[in-house]
Amino acid sequence: MTNLLQSTKPVRVFVTGGAGYIGSHVTLALREAGCELCVYDNLTTGHREAVLQDELVKGDLADRKALGKAMKAFRPDAVLHFAASIEVGESVSDPLKYYRNNSVNALNLLELTRELNVDKFVFSSTAAVYGSPQQFPVTEDAILAPINPYGASKMMTERFLDDLAAADQEFKYVSLRYFNVAGADPKGRLGQDYANPTHLITRALKTALGKYPKLQIFGTDYATQDGTCIRDYIHVVDLAQAHLDALNYLMLGSDSQVLNCGYGHGFSVREVIDMAKQVTGVDFPVEEVGRRPGDPAQLIADNNKIIRLLSWHPRHDDLKTIIETAWFWEQKLALSGFKQIV
Ligand code: UFG
Repeated sequence: MTNLLQSTKPVRVFVTGGAGYIGSHVTLALREAGCELCVYDNLTTGHREAVLQDELVKGDLADRKALGKAMKAFRPDAVLHFAASIEVGESVSDPLKYYRNNSVNALNLLELTRELNVDKFVFSSTAAVYGSPQQFPVTEDAILAPINPYGASKMMTERFLDDLAAADQEFKYVSLRYFNVAGADPKGRLGQDYANPTHLITRALKTALGKYPKLQIFGTDYATQDGTCIRDYIHVVDLAQAHLDALNYLMLGSDSQVLNCGYGHGFSVREVIDMAKQVTGVDFPVEEVGRRPGDPAQLIADNNKIIRLLSWHPRHDDLKTIIETAWFWEQKLALSGFKQIV
């Protein structure tokens, strides 16, 4: 596929949530590909240090005026929309936060995107839109039946995009349905850093570092081989590449798409814990507890569509590599904090 991101005129990309975990890995890859960036982030979970200072506009998506000002000043060719609330458990206890941050705020952004005649949009969606799928791997045309407000809030935005694209022939989008994103920049420049991390790999590594006394396994009675949930863990660097491929695809004038981002195979919670122990060399304490609300037993992507349409070539499809890069980052973070990217 022709690579328009490498053309002489830099592509201008407006990135919401670009200072967050996934957003910052994508902005790094876009920067390295020669794109010009404006990162719009309220820095509630993102980090100032994760992006270049002259790229960053601190602002909230709920603040339409500030958002419009930033977009008008930057004049983007495309918008990449990462900013969102992302915790399944929290979405069950505080659903309205999720509908506001993930659905209502996306409307603000979409309205401004069209007012300013920006017609290319890449959306961070999630495998959580499928709920508890009955078939594995799950294809993009599976029924959408989210089992938590997080998935439902993202499904709403997918619907906005689909309806907008149907009404407006100029507007093209790619929704990327992420499976379980993990790992970190192999050079240790970026990684995950949340105040209260809930993700399995991060919790396991922080337990190995002694930040938590034990790691809990949420549910051992699922209908899976070892009774724990199975997830398709995708390295954040491969996911970043999927965004560049999606952007390039839109720049080529291609049609809107909804695409799964995963490797097509999964690991159980127990398998992830075993690998985390192997990589860290720490036999940290593990406790089996009851199920966490909103967790499906199994989520595995059928990734044939993204490989076919975007010529996406994942390069880090290996649980050990994922955990090793995350471990490298966790150790660095523990030693010296989040350092400014250069
Ligand atoms: N888990 C534990 N103990 C922990 C943390 C997690 O047993 O301390 C289990 C969970 O119950 C689940 C699995 O590990 O079975 C993975 O949980 P994560 O919290 O790491 O990830 P989720 O599957 O809940 O959610 C992630 C993203 C969502 C995305 C989803 C899609 O957070 O944004 O993957 O698969 F939608």
